[in-house]
Amino acid sequence: MLKAVILIGGPQKGTRFRPLSLDIPKPLFPVAGLPVIQHHIEACITVDGLKEILLVGSYPTAQIQQFVSDMQQQYNINIRYLQEFTALGTAGGLYHFRDQIRCGNPDAFFVMNGDVCADFPLQELYSFHKQKGALVTIMGTEATRQQSLKYGCIATNKTTQEVTHYVEKPSSYVSTLINCGIYVFSLDIFSTIGEAFNAKQLDIYRNGNGTKETGFIQLEQEILTPLAGSGKLFALQVSSWWSQLKTAGSAIYANRHYLELYHKKHCERLLQHISDKGDAVCNLIPDVYVHPTATVHPTATLGPNVSIGPGATIGPGVRIRESIILADAVIENHSLVLHSIIGHNSKVGRWARVEGTPSDPDPNKPFAKMENPPLFNHDGRLNPSITILGGFVSVPSETILLNSVVLPHKELTRSFKNEIIL
Ligand code: GDD
Ligand code: GTP
Repeated sequence: MLKAVILIGGPQKGTRFRPLSLDIPKPLFPVAGLPVIQHHIEACITVDGLKEILLVGSYPTAQIQQFVSDMQQQYNINIRYLQEFTALGTAGGLYHFRDQIRCGNPDAFFVMNGDVCADFPLQELYSFHKQKGALVTIMGTEATRQQSLKYGCIATNKTTQEVTHYVEKPSSYVSTLINCGIYVFSLDIFSTIGEAFNAKQLDIYRNGNGTKETGFIQLEQEILTPLAGSGKLFALQVSSWWSQLKTAGSAIYANRHYLELYHKKHCERLLQHISDKGDAVCNLIPDVYVHPTATVHPTATLGPNVSIGPGATIGPGVRIRESIILADAVIENHSLVLHSIIGHNSKVGRWARVEGTPSDPDPNKPFAKMENPPLFNHDGRLNPSITILGGFVSVPSETILLNSVVLPHKELTRSFKNEIIL
């Protein structure tokens, strides 16, 4: 039997994802029509023998519980949310809830960072883990030399795939093989984490140093780094699509890739040129996802890489490309939306133009990943990015909104360019 743990963080995480994470936890933000971590869950349920999924984080239960019930119903699998009393770090939560994870004596369990998007090769990862007799297996992928410094870097023995050296976000080059934040653990890991935990308690007791919560343990620095070279830590390098979800711009990028993956496993989720009744749905440039409860006018043009949420209304002559439109948003006649995220219940008036700057990985560099810049650069200016409207924003007719971020509940009265509208 197998289990999976998804680390979803808490309200203090996901700051680069604001304002989108202001009224919905980042792990529940819809990408290609599904909450981010529903893609993780869908990957888990395809693994033979996987019996339970545990979400571990510090969001208030009320914000996660509805999602958990929905998932349980939809996939008929055991899913539970375990709430940390405070952020315990990437290994502290695992250790705190060790009894729940060990319960039923699983052969191993997956740990998945909730803020990554990928074509998760979980079955392959588990076969590799078994074959190596590993304590921990890390899913790794290739990055550019320069970008590797922003990730966990892994040096391996090329013949055995054993991890010989692990450095989290090094200051100088270590390896272009990076940690994807997807792991398989054997149950013995709890004695390893337990030793780290006890050593820390002792240190705090003896030296009184400890500004952090005593149960706070970082998986990467405190567990993986010491395990490197011990013969227990292995890495499987994969070449399938993988990306972090840190900024709103990376949501547009992930949206495109998850839509593309639907061709393999969920064609029914992609909008087809002709509806079930035989009439043209709209002018369609694949790939597009439209929630069944959304209304799209037949003269609108959607795509490529557009997701339309429940209850949204897309008027006549509207053009939308590379964008995510959230629940109950209204895009009125002949408006244009490019490289943008339109918050729930927001309204874009007639003949308006809402446009952002795409932030894709550098296409000229093999293995380049998304850059995830903060909202502002060093001199305090806004980094060009996709345009984001928070929830309940209204954009008047015949205005232009370029590379801007609008906080929730704003009623704009004119055009804006490169601004944050608070
Ligand atoms: N439950 C819980 N509690 N989850 C947490 C906590 C916590 O205290 N802190 C972080 N997480 C979750 C986050 O929600 C996220 O899904 C994941 O753990 C990792 O978060 P970060 O701490 O922000 O790390 P990172 O994303 O910068 O780097 C990690 O992931 C990279 C791949 O995306 C590291 O593992 C890197 O080595 C790795 O390359
Ligand atoms: P490429 O598709 O990259 O060649 O760009 P483009 O110059 O054709 O158009 P642009 O990127 O500006 O816009 C994409 C689509 O939206 C095009 O099909 C345009 O015809 C259409 N479009 C552009 N501006 C407007 C507008 O203000 N309103 C509406 N309804 N459509 C527009």
